[in-house]
Amino acid sequence: MAAGFFISKAVGVVGIVLALGAVATIIALSVVYAQEKNKTASSGGDTTTTTTTTTTTTSLAPNTTAAPNNPWNQWRLPTTLKPDFYDVTLQPFLKPDNNNMYIFKGNSSVTFTCEEPTDLIIIHSNKLNYTLQGGFHASLQAVNSSQVPAITKTWLETTTQYLVVQLNSTLQKGQSYVLFSIFTGELADDLAGFYRSEYVEGNVTKVVATTQMQAPDARKAFPCFDEPAMKANFTVTLIHPSDHEALSNMPVDNTQQVQIDGESWNITRFLTTPKMSTYLLAFIVSQFTSVSSNSGQVLIRIWGRPQAISEGQGAYALQVTGPILNFFEQHYNTPYPLPKSDQVALPDFNAGAMENWGLVTYRENSLLFDDNYSSIGNKERVVTVIAHELAHQWFGNLVTLRWWNDLWLNEGFASYVEYLGADSAEPTWNIKDLMVLNEVYVVMATDALTTSHPLSFREDEINTPAEISEVFDTIAYSKGASVLRMLSDFLTEDVFKEGLQSYLHTYAYGNTVYTDLWEHLQKAVDNNNVTLPGNISTIMDRWTLQMGFPVVTVNTNSGEIQQNHFLLDPTSTVERPSDFNYTWIVPITWMTSQTSGSRYWLVEVSDTNSSFKVSGSDWLLLNLNVSGYFRVNYNQENWNQLLQQLSSNHLVIPVINRAQIIDDAFNLARAKYVDVTLALNTTQFLSQEREYMPWQAALNNLKYFQLMFDRSEVFGVMRSYIQKQVKPLFEHYKNVTKNWTEVPPDLMDQYNEINAISTACSYGISECQELATSLFQQWQNTSNNSIHPNLRSAIYCSAVATGGLEAWNFLWDRFLEATVVSEADKIRAALACSTEPWILQRYLQYTIDPTKIRKQDATSTINSIASNVVGQPLAWDFIRSNWKLLFGQYGGGSFSFSRLILSVTQRFSTEFELQQLEQFKADNQDVGFGSGTRALEQALEKTRSNINWVNENKESVLAWFTEHSQ
Ligand SMILES: *[C@@H]1O[C@H](CO)[C@@H](O)[C@H](O)[C@H]1NC(C)=O
Ligand SMILES: *[C@@H]1O[C@H](CO)[C@@H](O)[C@H](O)[C@H]1NC(C)=O
Ligand SMILES: *[C@@H]1O[C@H](CO)[C@@H](O)[C@H](O)[C@H]1NC(C)=O
Ligand SMILES: *[C@@H]1O[C@H](CO)[C@@H](O)[C@H](O)[C@H]1NC(C)=O
Ligand SMILES: [Zn+2]
Repeated sequence: MAAGFFISKAVGVVGIVLALGAVATIIALSVVYAQEKNKTASSGGDTTTTTTTTTTTTSLAPNTTAAPNNPWNQWRLPTTLKPDFYDVTLQPFLKPDNNNMYIFKGNSSVTFTCEEPTDLIIIHSNKLNYTLQGGFHASLQAVNSSQVPAITKTWLETTTQYLVVQLNSTLQKGQSYVLFSIFTGELADDLAGFYRSEYVEGNVTKVVATTQMQAPDARKAFPCFDEPAMKANFTVTLIHPSDHEALSNMPVDNTQQVQIDGESWNITRFLTTPKMSTYLLAFIVSQFTSVSSNSGQVLIRIWGRPQAISEGQGAYALQVTGPILNFFEQHYNTPYPLPKSDQVALPDFNAGAMENWGLVTYRENSLLFDDNYSSIGNKERVVTVIAHELAHQWFGNLVTLRWWNDLWLNEGFASYVEYLGADSAEPTWNIKDLMVLNEVYVVMATDALTTSHPLSFREDEINTPAEISEVFDTIAYSKGASVLRMLSDFLTEDVFKEGLQSYLHTYAYGNTVYTDLWEHLQKAVDNNNVTLPGNISTIMDRWTLQMGFPVVTVNTNSGEIQQNHFLLDPTSTVERPSDFNYTWIVPITWMTSQTSGSRYWLVEVSDTNSSFKVSGSDWLLLNLNVSGYFRVNYNQENWNQLLQQLSSNHLVIPVINRAQIIDDAFNLARAKYVDVTLALNTTQFLSQEREYMPWQAALNNLKYFQLMFDRSEVFGVMRSYIQKQVKPLFEHYKNVTKNWTEVPPDLMDQYNEINAISTACSYGISECQELATSLFQQWQNTSNNSIHPNLRSAIYCSAVATGGLEAWNFLWDRFLEATVVSEADKIRAALACSTEPWILQRYLQYTIDPTKIRKQDATSTINSIASNVVGQPLAWDFIRSNWKLLFGQYGGGSFSFSRLILSVTQRFSTEFELQQLEQFKADNQDVGFGSGTRALEQALEKTRSNINWVNENKESVLAWFTEHSQ
C-alpha cells in the first residue's frame, strides 16, 4: 500500500507539512494485547455470548461456558488446515435494494488439505450473512473420498471474525475437503472489503463496486483463510450488469450474457490465479474505460472515469508503466509474474494505492495526470506511486512476508525501490536524491522520540485487526526505506541486487520472514568478498531491533568520534529496553576540504581516527549524501569552518550535504547538542543558494519556528528575515522564467520556483502578493485560468488569504465544477488559507457533509484548516465537539486519522493547551481514540517538549532574528 497523502512531496502546498508520522509504541501494543488476553481469559466464554447475540443468522452458539482458550477465541488461525484453491462467485448490485441497501450476493467453495486431524473448521468471515444449508452455514464434501465427517454445529464469531464449523469426527491428515457456502454482504461505502464508490457523470450518479482487502478485509467479501501465509489459487467469477466491465487479478477466461429477473447480466469467469495471499485479491465492476499498450507479453491498461480517460489523463501512467515494469524485471532478474497489469483510478479510496496482484488500485491523484491541471509535484507523485505498487508485484506479491509483524520489510523495500523505478522512467529528475528529504528526514522526526518503536515486531505482538492496521506507519515505510538504502549503499547496489534476486527465486509463490532476505544478501556478500565489520544480521539487528538512531559526534581537534542515541527531547527518558544499549554499527562516509576517504565503520561507542583530525581553515564533513541513517555533530571550530565555507563558496559542499548541515543543525539544536543560534546561522547562506534541497530543508525546519511563534512578537522579525533571504531567490526565478511565463526545465528547479513563490507570498512580500492577485483576477475576469499548474497552490492560497469572501466563493465554485482531481485537491487546500474565522468555520462544517467534501478528503481538509494560524483554534474546537462523529467514521483504521490529532495540536506550546489536550483525552476515554491512540500520546509528548523549547529559546531566537533581519 502507498500512504494516502502527499508527504513532503506536496511542495506546492504553501503550508509545508511537518513530519507528522504516526508513532507506534510497543507499550501501547502490548497493553491492548494484554487487555484482549484478559478479556478472553477472565470471562470464560463471554466473548462468545456477546458476539453470537449480534449475528443475524439463526444457528445457535455453542454452550457459553466453553473453555476460554477455544481456538475460535484466538486471533490467529490454527495450523490444522491449509487452503489450496478457491472458487468464488460474487454478484454486486449497483442499485439499492428494497431496504435501500446496496448488497452483493456470493457463493464460494474452498478446497483445503488437512495438515493435522481436527474436528473444527475455522475460517475468517466478517459481516457476511449466510444462507443456511440443511440448517448450517456451510456444507462439506471430501475430495476423492466418500468419507466425510458430518457437521453438527456452525456459528459466527464476530469478535475474532470467524465462521466456525463443528464436525462429529475428525478430518483426516493429508485428505482434501471442499467447504461450500452461500452468503450476502453489504456493498457499503466504507472503503474496506468489497465496497462501493460513487461519482457523477453527466448529472448521473454512477456506482462502482471495488475492493480493498489489505490488511484483513478479504473476509468481508467471502469466507477465507485470511492470513498472508495461507496462499492459494483463486478462480473468481463476477456476475455484473452487461453494461458494466468486470476486472479481477487475472484476465477474463470467458463471459456469457444471461437474463436475471428481466435484466441483462454477464457472468464473467477469470483465469485461475497463481498461488497468492487473500489480501492481494481485487474485483471491480464499473463503467470505467481504459487506455492500453503492450510491454513484451504483458498487457498494460490504465482505467478510470470515462471522462478522465477521454481527456487523456491516463496517458502519463501508461507512458511510464512499461519502462518501470521493464526496470523491475531487470532489477529482480525475474519476468513480471502475470499476463496483464491493470491499474485503476478510483474516486473513493482510503490509502494512496494498493498493490493487488495484476489489478492495482489508486486514488485518482496518484494515477491520473493532466498537463493542463497537474503540477510537477502531481507528476512525481504519480510516477513514484506507480513504481511503488509495481515493485510490490514481485517483492510482496510473488514473495510475501509470512505475517504483518514484518510489514516494514515489505513497505520499506517498496518505498526504497520506488525511487529507483521512478528514476528509470524519469532519468533527468535526480529523484533518488529526494529520498533524503522525503523519507530519511521525515521519519527521523518521529524516530527521535521515546514513543518510537523498532522496525521489527515479534510475530506474537501483532494479532488484532487494529494492531495490524497500526503497523502501517511512517516507521515501517520511511525508516524501512532509509535503512535499506543504507544497506544497499554499503553493500553496493549490485551486491544488494544479487542477494535480492536469489531471495526472490528461492521463495517465489511462498512466504518468508525478514531474516530470509538477510541470508540471501549474506550469500551475495560472501560471493563478492565484500568486507564488513560483521555479518549482515549483526549489523542490521542494530537498526531493526532497536528504535531510534545515533548522532555521531566528531571532534576534529583530536579525531575522536562517538555515538549517542539521538533524542529530540533530551529530558525524555527511554523506557523501552534494548539488547544493544542503543548503540549502532555505523557506516560512515566522509570528506574534508582536502580529500575524501573510504568508508569508516564506527562499531564501538567511541573511537579515535586520525583521518578526522583537521586544522586551520580545513573542515570535515561526515555522511556524504546522507546515505547513512544518522545525524552528525562537530566541535564548534569545525562548525565554524563549515559555515565559513558555505558563506564563501557553498558549491564546494555537495548539495545534499548542504541540506544535511541545515537539517542536522536544527535538530541538534532541538535536542540541545548545539545552540539554537548555530542552527539559525546555517540559513544565512541561503541568500546565495538556488538549489531546492537546501532550501526545502530550511523551510521544513523554519516551519517549526513559525508554528511556535506565529502567535507571538517573534513572528514580526522572523518574517523580515525570511523576506530578506527569499527575495534573491524570488528575483532569480523571475528572471529564469521570464517574469513567470516559462517553466524551468528540471524537477528540482520547478520545485524551488514553487518554494520561492509560496514563501515570498506567505511571508508577505508585496510584489508576490500582487502577482498572485493579478493572476487570480485575470482568471476571475476572463474565466480562463492561465496560471501554470505548478504555481496554482501558492497563487490560490495567497489570493484566498488576501481576497476575502469573493475570492473564496469564486474558488469554491471552481472546486464544485473541477473534473480533474489534482485541480480539486489544490483548490481544496487553498480554501483553507482564508484569514476570516467565519469562512473557515463554515468550511469546517463542510468537511462532515459528504455532498460537499468527499469522505476520503475530510481529514486532510481539516488538517489544512488547522495548519492556518487562524483556523487552528477553530479546528481544535471542531474536533473536540465532533469527536464521536469523526471517530465513528474514521477511527477504525484509517491512515489519516492519527494525522488529524497531530495536525490540530501541532502549535500546542503552552500549559493551557497541554491541559486542554489532557482534558480531551479524559473526556473521550469512553469513545476511545482507535488508530489515533498512539498519535494522542505523541501529541502530549510533543506539547510538553514544545513548552520547554519555547521557554528556553524564545529570547535568543527573538534576538537573533532582530539582529539578522536588517
Ligand atoms: C445537468 O443538469 C442541468 C440542470 O438540471 C442541465 O442544465 C444540464 O444540461 C444537465 N447536463 C447533462 C449533461 O445532462
Ligand atoms: C457480455 O457477454 C457478451 C456475450 O458473451 C459479450 O459479447 C460482451 O462483451 C460481454 N460484456 C461485458 C461487459 O463483459
Ligand atoms: C496454482 O498456482 C501455481 C503457482 O503458484 C501454478 O503453478 C498452478 O498451476 C496453479 N494451479 C492452478 C489450478 O491453476
Ligand atoms: C552565529 O553567527 C554569529 C555571527 O553571525 C556568531 O557571532 C555566533 O557565534 C554564531 N553562533 C554559533 C553558535 O555558532
Ligand atoms: Zn506498499
